[in-house]
Amino acid sequence: MAGSGERSSQQPLEKCLEAAVQVALEAGQIIREALRIEKRVQTKSSAADLVTETDQLVENLIITTLSKKFPSHRFIGEESVAAGEKCILTDDPTWIIDPIDGTCNFVHGTPVVAVSIGLSVKKELELGVIYSCVEEKLYTGRKGHGAFCNGQKLQASNQTDLSKALILTELGSIRDPVAVKMLFNNMERLLKVPAHGIRIVGSAALDLCHVAAGDVDAFYQFGLHCWDMAAAAVIVREAGGIMMDTAGGPLDLMSRRVVAAGTPEMACQIAKELQPVAYERDDGTEGTSNSLSK
Ligand code: IPD
Repeated sequence: MAGSGERSSQQPLEKCLEAAVQVALEAGQIIREALRIEKRVQTKSSAADLVTETDQLVENLIITTLSKKFPSHRFIGEESVAAGEKCILTDDPTWIIDPIDGTCNFVHGTPVVAVSIGLSVKKELELGVIYSCVEEKLYTGRKGHGAFCNGQKLQASNQTDLSKALILTELGSIRDPVAVKMLFNNMERLLKVPAHGIRIVGSAALDLCHVAAGDVDAFYQFGLHCWDMAAAAVIVREAGGIMMDTAGGPLDLMSRRVVAAGTPEMACQIAKELQPVAYERDDGTEGTSNSLSK
């Protein structure tokens, strides 16, 4: 690397965090204003995988703004990948963006939506910004510097007993009958433990913020994407929580599966109950067999 590329890849992370916060607030205002307006909705990988012009506009805004400030940085954005760009994480500083997490909510005018912006450097997640733009809650996290919501320090739950847990999960957008059966099978296994409850709010990024805030004890999902969890991974970890693979190992950002919890004991108990649902990886590499679908 040389010249301006070298200089910009060495930008202090604090500057990156400031820039991500600024553009997330700007994006949030656009989403808020568009929430109640009629939208042109298109489908992507399935009839329930939705996209609107606002998703594309906001992703464009975020990428344009950040690439002006950090010209050597790379981008993985939900809508750019849907449009055919590769989803490959390299050692280069890479922004991982979900312009509207909770697009299905957004389409229906349900006010549970967020902008999610994470930054990976040398394949390590360094910072995350998630803006829950209707309730105007700004979640931020930077590796080694804590996690906050509107400036208040976050602390994840200290619950270790699955039979006392309130858990969040998401249904995803796949409607393949086998995948749907497995979704409910996993919920049934957890409810039979018996866990206190399972809730679904429609945004994986916000679910993970709830784990970081200690509002719930855990979250799990099969079928989400790297842009749903990149920013949140930093926020959860910095709040003292854990993000791990549903098979029990370390989180693999491209694997499309995660268990997050306030304590490792909780995450391990949930992982033990879950039956694997195989999805094609985000980076297209061979990681799972018998993949159900995109
Ligand atoms: C989706 C939401 C949803 C989850 C999906 C995600 P999107 O993100 O987080 O709750 O179930 O797996 O892909 O499409 O709204 O950005």
